[in-house]
Amino acid sequence: GVTYLEPGSSQMGKKESIADTARVLGRMYDGIEYRGFSQDLVQELSDYAGVPVWNGLTDQFHPTQVLADFLTIQEEFGTLKGIKLVYVGDGRNNMANSLMIGAAKMGMHFVIGSPKSLFPEDGLVAECRKIAQDCQSGAVIEVLDDPKAAVKGAHAVYTDVWASMGEEDQIPARVKLLTPYKVTMEMVQKTGNPDVLFLHCLPAFHD
Ligand code: NVA
Repeated sequence: GVTYLEPGSSQMGKKESIADTARVLGRMYDGIEYRGFSQDLVQELSDYAGVPVWNGLTDQFHPTQVLADFLTIQEEFGTLKGIKLVYVGDGRNNMANSLMIGAAKMGMHFVIGSPKSLFPEDGLVAECRKIAQDCQSGAVIEVLDDPKAAVKGAHAVYTDVWASMGEEDQIPARVKLLTPYKVTMEMVQKTGNPDVLFLHCLPAFHD
């Protein structure tokens, strides 16, 4: 069975502490998925719950989405190793971060195409390159600001929303900044791959 605790239905982090909530939930459930904003909060839940806690989305990471996307890529190409996956758009959001970590582990050629102001943190890029080296996955990680150069030769192209949950006030500025990174038919053709796969984590805002 599953119990859904919606945002308004508990005092977690407001009245009761996260640690106390974690201890109580850990006694009642076999596992806890947390979907919210703060990475520290999911970390604290996991420190105190005594049962598996996993991230269902935070501002920093979105690993469960990556599991689903990688299953799709594997289904399409029969492998992940050596697949060139290009993410264009906001290069330092939860999806870009988690795709980069996943790609490093699975031996993919992962490219971020993003404006310099939205490049991922250098520390995380270095950590991913180290993961690739330590597990000898063969992964290659690149970060470019030229979207057309980034998508060249892609097996799969990925993008995300203009601005993530909680950043809605930044949408007008982001649309301006990220328009050159929008996945249009012209961008798809720049891959040079007529069988290129396109992925989007949703939600997609069409207007
Ligand atoms: N970057 C997006 C992912 C949604 C699945 C967001 O955080 O809103």
